[in-house]
Amino acid sequence: MVPTKTRIRSVLLTFCAMGCLGLFVGSNSARAEGEVDNSCKAKVFKFDVVKKLCADPSKGKKAVKKLMKNQVVKKAKAAGEKMNCKSCHDNTKTFTLKKNAEADLKKWLG
Ligand code: HEC
Repeated sequence: MVPTKTRIRSVLLTFCAMGCLGLFVGSNSARAEGEVDNSCKAKVFKFDVVKKLCADPSKGKKAVKKLMKNQVVKKAKAAGEKMNCKSCHDNTKTFTLKKNAEADLKKWLG
């Protein structure tokens, strides 16, 4: 009964492949959430201040968040504007930029 054996083996192999892939994707997305990883996602930056912070491993994403909070959101609020991280970012996990983000940031940092 060679065919059956071969089938069982290929089924097992498929499961292993899925498992390994799951592990790989899982560990990858854990990093993407930035819990441990302090590096910035973007490869290209529009703002020098952000670029510099991201280029410095001792500052990194944490420092960018601080900058956004203190230099952008606080300033805007002080000026009477309604603003939070989601005014410019889709979410606070990946910090994907909204269409208005650059122009609005320029107003406060530029
Ligand atoms: C006025 C718009 C605006 C607001 C408000 C804002 N951001 Fe940003 N943020 C930007 C822009 C634009 C960039 C990209 C900068 C560049 O390209 O140099 C950015 C980049 C970032 C990055 C780097 C992303 C990466 O990994 O590449 C982080 C982290 C971040 N912002 C966090 C925050 C947090 C936290 C808040 C709220 C306290 C916030 N931002 C509020 C506009 C904004």
